[in-house]
Amino acid sequence: MRVVLIGAPGSGKGTQGPLVAWKLGVPYLSAGDLLRDEVARGTDLGRAVAVCLDRGELVPDELMADTIVDRLTALTGGGRDDREGYVLDGFPRTVAQAELAERRLPGGLADHVVFLTLPDDVARDRLAHRRQGRSDDDAATIEHRLRVFHEETEPLLDHYRTRGTLHVVDGDRPQDDVLAAIVAALGA
Ligand code: C5P
Ligand code: MG
Repeated sequence: MRVVLIGAPGSGKGTQGPLVAWKLGVPYLSAGDLLRDEVARGTDLGRAVAVCLDRGELVPDELMADTIVDRLTALTGGGRDDREGYVLDGFPRTVAQAELAERRLPGGLADHVVFLTLPDDVARDRLAHRRQGRSDDDAATIEHRLRVFHEETEPLLDHYRTRGTLHVVDGDRPQDDVLAAIVAALGA
């Protein structure tokens, strides 16, 4: 099963993603973690995206889609073995990213899309407390990331609603309840 997790910063993607993946017995891939790792290792990609991450801006769609499609292709054995699936956190972030990835992946990107909802005030509160030492977790950048989410990422709701693969899950609940709701939505 191929699952995509979408949600505002702080909505719990990085918490729920690995748990859902474990439950399904598939690998977990976080787009944000992947980029932070490239930055930390000082790779060409890392140097290209570092400023975007620091500012809470999105990496250009083409670069992001290529990076994730390549990683997913490696993960699923070149598309021959994609029945195994994955849980993908943080990609796509824009409708353009979704369309680019769908064009390149013969079987599509996702069987199920889980959209974790969270009021902005709760997201602010969670992110202020989480402070993981990320370069993008100061108050001003958090505000920017929330704005980018509403403007760029929220339109994916309609994109996936028309494809019938969307599950909207209330992320403003205790972790265990959110996990149970996701697992139930996936029928897993
Ligand atoms: O998902 P996460 O909050 O970890 O992403 C951190 C940052 O990585 C984003 O603010 C953005 O700069 C970058 N990113 C991106 N495109 C994606 C996923 C992450 O530009 N699809
Ligand atoms: Mg995350």
